[in-house]
Amino acid sequence: MISEYEEPMATTADGPAIAPLIRGGALVELRRHHPSNLEAFQNWYADEEIARMLRHDQRPLNEIQSRGYFTSIIMPATARESAYAIHERLTGRLIGATALTDFEGQAMRQAFFRIVIGEKDAWGRGFGTEATRLVVLDGFERHKLDLVKLEVFRQNLRARNTYERIGFRVTGEHTEYVGRDRFPLHVIEMEIDAASFESSNRAWLARIADV
Ligand SMILES: CC(C)(COP(=O)(O)OP(=O)(O)OC[C@H]1O[C@@H](n2cnc3c(N)ncnc32)[C@H](O)[C@@H]1OP(=O)(O)O)[C@@H](O)C(=O)NCCC(=O)NCCS
Repeated sequence: MISEYEEPMATTADGPAIAPLIRGGALVELRRHHPSNLEAFQNWYADEEIARMLRHDQRPLNEIQSRGYFTSIIMPATARESAYAIHERLTGRLIGATALTDFEGQAMRQAFFRIVIGEKDAWGRGFGTEATRLVVLDGFERHKLDLVKLEVFRQNLRARNTYERIGFRVTGEHTEYVGRDRFPLHVIEMEIDAASFESSNRAWLARIADV
C-alpha cells in the first residue's frame, strides 16, 4: 500500500527525482518533503555545530529522536504545506528544511519561522536568505498570516544578518538556562508584518515574479 506521504516524484532527465514544487525562487526551490529526505535530515540534526544554532537544549538529536521528529512532525506538516524542503535550484540538490509552526490568533494570525540549511557547504551563498523570503511570502499569501515571528540565538550572526536584511525587527530578548550547568542562552525575538516585508524586499519580489 502506498502511504499518504509517498506522493509521486517528478523525475528529471539528468538528475535525481525531486518532490512537488511549492514555491520557486532564483536560487532555491521550496518543495514538499519526501520520505527519502529522512537520511539527510538525520545528518543535519546529528551535527553539534548546527544543534548549537538551532536547538534550545543545544544538543544534537540521536537517530531515534530525529526519525521521530521527521515522521511525526515534519511529514504531517509537509502535507499541510507548512514544512518545506529546500532544494538548490540549479542542481535540485536537497540542502535544508524550513517551516512555519505554532500558528495562532484569529484577528491577528501569526506563526513562527524556522530554518536549517543543513548542508554546510551551501552556507553563505544566498540560499538561506532566499528560502526565508519564500517562506515568509508563502506565509502571508497562502497561509494568510499577518505576522511572522522567529527566535534566534544571540551568537548566530549569520542568521541575524539574514533576518535583518529581509526586514525582521527585534521585538525582545530573553535568556534561557540550559542543561545541568545552567548555560545561559541569549534568545533574540524578531518579527515582520506583510507591509514591512513588501517594502524591504521590493527588488527581490520584482525579480522572482519573472522566474
Ligand atoms: C542561518 C542560515 C539559514 C543562513 O543561510 P545562508 O544560506 O547561510 O545565508 P545567506 O548566504 O543567505 O546569507 C549569509 C551571508 O551570505 C551573503 N550572501 C547573501 N546572498 C549571497 C549571494 N547571492 N552570494 C553570496 N553570498 C551571499 C550575505 O551577505 C551574508 O553575509 P553576511 O553574514 O556577511 O552579511 C544558514 O546558515 C543555516 O541554516 N545555518 C544553520 C542553522 C541555523 O542557524 N538556523 C537558523 C536558526 S534561527
